[in-house]
Amino acid sequence: MGKKEMAQERREQRRQEISLLRTIPYSDQQRRKMIFSWWSNETMAVVTGSNRGIGFEIAHQLASHGLTVVLTSRETRVGEEATKIMQEKGLNVVFHQLDIVDPASIETFSDWIKENYGGLDILINNAGVNFNFGTDNSVEYAETVIRTNYFGTKSMIKAMIPLMKPSPFGARIVNVTSRLGRLNGRRNRIANVSLRQQLEDNDSLSEELIDSTVNSFLEQVKNGTWESGGWPQVFTDYSLSKLAANAYTRLMARILSDQPEGHKMYMNCYCPGWVKTAMTDWAGHTSPEVAADTAVWLALISDQFVSALEIDSTDPIPSPWPHQFHATTIMNYTGGLRQVDLWYDWPNKRYLHINQYQLGKKLYGVEWQNGTSFYFTLDSTEECTIRHFPVGILRPNWLEGANYMGQRYKDGFLCNVWDKIDFIHYYEDVATQIPVYWHFYDGLIEHIITFEVGKVLEDSKWQAPAYCFKEIEKGKKTLQDQKVQDHSLLTSFREKI
Ligand SMILES: NC(=O)c1ccc[n+]([C@@H]2O[C@H](COP(=O)([O-])OP(=O)(O)OC[C@H]3O[C@@H](n4cnc5c(N)ncnc54)[C@H](OP(=O)(O)O)[C@@H]3O)[C@@H](O)[C@H]2O)c1
Repeated sequence: MGKKEMAQERREQRRQEISLLRTIPYSDQQRRKMIFSWWSNETMAVVTGSNRGIGFEIAHQLASHGLTVVLTSRETRVGEEATKIMQEKGLNVVFHQLDIVDPASIETFSDWIKENYGGLDILINNAGVNFNFGTDNSVEYAETVIRTNYFGTKSMIKAMIPLMKPSPFGARIVNVTSRLGRLNGRRNRIANVSLRQQLEDNDSLSEELIDSTVNSFLEQVKNGTWESGGWPQVFTDYSLSKLAANAYTRLMARILSDQPEGHKMYMNCYCPGWVKTAMTDWAGHTSPEVAADTAVWLALISDQFVSALEIDSTDPIPSPWPHQFHATTIMNYTGGLRQVDLWYDWPNKRYLHINQYQLGKKLYGVEWQNGTSFYFTLDSTEECTIRHFPVGILRPNWLEGANYMGQRYKDGFLCNVWDKIDFIHYYEDVATQIPVYWHFYDGLIEHIITFEVGKVLEDSKWQAPAYCFKEIEKGKKTLQDQKVQDHSLLTSFREKI
């Protein structure tokens, strides 16, 4: 197999890995085989210089994988236009102005992302400039090139690191650099062997060394001696700027490797090849789509795959429900919204949920361990339905035996996720072990808004109204409101657990 075919094969393999990662396993069989993707639409990715070229395509692909992407551009108008293109495809992309060589712009951007999203998970440093084409090797714009490709990238990294969100999968920083900046390529390298060795050696590599290397080049450009300085021979300013970015990536990757578990950050760089973009005057031989895929792969790849098959005894188990608690939730059952006030009282074997339907009635549901449940209104309509759940109310450890599905973000919380006998997905906040969200397979979803452990409702509030009992006495069938009918699934579920 030739080099080209091998490269194509590697690329295809990476693509398959990413599409495997994004598979959200639904069926039982899939769930056992597939890998659990670690990101969601709450995963924030920022791409610099993404109004066009490779950056645009990286933003596009990340958004297509379901992440929320911040498309940034130094020019607002073009950035907004590029963002619109993706939004029209239904992708989750927002715009913010960002010029990586302007400290004020970086500061405004940092404040904005912190305030609106609490930070970011992925940073792609793509913005870059080059002013040489073909066999040209002018250094007329050397300062802009070094300032953008090295110092600008570095400023972004420094500004974003404190804003990277903690995650068990690690935050990601990907720098789009170039093979022209390889330290020890056979051609186009720095002639000074000692400098090369220092830059290569982990013990001597430092930010000061990288800065002084590029600054000495800029100094020579100013005093007209750069040509005899032993610098890379092709696109000298650009090559050196990317060499500096490569070395800085290696330095930071090493520094960041000391981050504690849960706060890991991974930094990588890659060369996209020779790409048909404005930078090459569209003379490259690779498309921006292909050039973008390595950045996407580096941003999303995870070796912390979790699949049901890999579950072992170290998997977390759901916290049992506290014996008494009060929760308020927002429930959506196939489009019908309600606010729920939920009281769980295991010592007294009772469970009350007060359902306020959106712009509709308020329905009370009291369930008792003897299996009798009353669903009623407390207004002049005097509605009441009586049902029987022979198995009684949910016991505190009703989630015992649930399958661990891994961790994901939900409603902004990092959660452990389980599923239970193909019935419910249950999300629990990793930090506090409080439930955040659950959804039943029949479409009922519930977001937990407050959760007060130990809170008990006074006894008088648990009483079903007298008219419920009158109906029983008369042996009459009562209210036939669909909304009040218990989940048939819930009944079968309770029988199973
Ligand atoms: N094309 C290639 O063959 C090739 C090869 C190796 C590496 N690369 C690297 O790939 C990256 C993307 O290049 P590309 O080919 O897609 O080039 P491109 O089409 O020229 O795109 C460069 C992007 O960077 C932006 N940018 C430049 N200076 C900026 C600044 N100060 N602040 C914010 N954004 C800035 C540009 O914004 P404006 O639209 O405002 O100018 C543009 O969006 C660059 O880092 C480049 O060095 C490219």
